[in-house]
Amino acid sequence: MAFFSINNAACRRAALLLIVTLFLSSIHATMAGRKSRKASVRMNVIDRCWRRDVNWRSNRQKLATCSVGFAGKMWNNIGGGIIHYQVTDPSDDPVNPRPGTLRYGASKLRGKVWITFKNDMEIKLQKSLMVSSFTAIDGRGASIHIAGGGCFVLYKVTNVIIHGLKFHDCQAQSPGLIMGPDSGILPVNWGDGDAIRLVTASKVWIDHNTLYDCPDGLIDVTRGSTNVTISNNWFRNQNKVMLLSHDDGSVRDKNMRVTVAFNHFGPDCTQRMPRVRHGYAHVVNNLYLEWGKYAIGGSMNPSILSESNLFVAPNSENKKVTWRQDINVQGRTPWRVYSVNDVFENGAYIKKPPNANIQAKPRPQYNREQFFRVVSGRFVRDLTKNAGALRCTPRSRC
Ligand SMILES: *[C@@H]1O[C@H](CO)[C@@H](O)[C@H](O)[C@H]1NC(C)=O
Repeated sequence: MAFFSINNAACRRAALLLIVTLFLSSIHATMAGRKSRKASVRMNVIDRCWRRDVNWRSNRQKLATCSVGFAGKMWNNIGGGIIHYQVTDPSDDPVNPRPGTLRYGASKLRGKVWITFKNDMEIKLQKSLMVSSFTAIDGRGASIHIAGGGCFVLYKVTNVIIHGLKFHDCQAQSPGLIMGPDSGILPVNWGDGDAIRLVTASKVWIDHNTLYDCPDGLIDVTRGSTNVTISNNWFRNQNKVMLLSHDDGSVRDKNMRVTVAFNHFGPDCTQRMPRVRHGYAHVVNNLYLEWGKYAIGGSMNPSILSESNLFVAPNSENKKVTWRQDINVQGRTPWRVYSVNDVFENGAYIKKPPNANIQAKPRPQYNREQFFRVVSGRFVRDLTKNAGALRCTPRSRC
């Protein structure tokens, strides 16, 4: 009997142990499940919106609903009256564009135009291309180089999407006549050789482009431009990468609001990722793989919220992420850069502003159309893994 009861107790203990083991392992399994779910959510919020669709080709306009940040959703680029235009001819005439060329679709056609490309092309623009309002240029499915000539100018336009193009070796332009936007002929005297230049433009989304090796900057946002999202681009091999407001006197750029998200900077970028004057920039979830002089800079009292980026410093001594122009002009408050949850590697650091107790960190205050969840900086490598123009093979996902 005694033997039995001991045995019984041993049995109970064994049973209890088994239950505890099962319970613990089920908790473990749940946690592992959570972990793997987390791992598979690593496509960023914009890409997740359309890239998982194998039929993205027949649902191209879905893209317009995927933007976030200050550009908001691009509803005005889709819907009734949209013209589907396909580029079949890589040639260019800046004043009398032929049907089939990029300039015909981007500068001559009016209204909502969604531009795609028949096949891979290298387009050497004879002059800067003036993109019209309500125009989407969608390079998905082809390898499109805008190279060796003029590049894009967005002059007094709104509701523009530029997606999936490769800009490089843009050339500075001499003054001359150019068509557009909306088929007017303009005498144009700017064109420093930026890849994409915004001049008094608003509601612009620049997504998944690859940009490198241009004589001036890659993207310039100037003269009262605002409501811009620059996302998922790959910037490399460039001295001056991105300028948000181009001169100290441009007071109307105080209202400039730009979101810079999920971009990949590097290798071989020297400075201005971005450089900001006057306005507000939300720089979030970007990957910085080294820099020559600095990553983020500013002057003229801008506000920059640097949030959950990954900064990998160069091996040189330039470990400091930020640069600011020393302004000792009286009455001018210094620039404000707020670093929130940024991740630093290889010795990278941001110097906190001297009065770091400013609680009023300038949140972007996005509305519903602009809002997105910021992801931990630890996942930035995954979020930006496919930055730049995507290679979308026929009948496959991008
Ligand atoms: C920018 O977007 C906001 C909405 O977020 C809008 O109120 C404002 O008018 C826009 N500015 C311009 C210049 O389009």
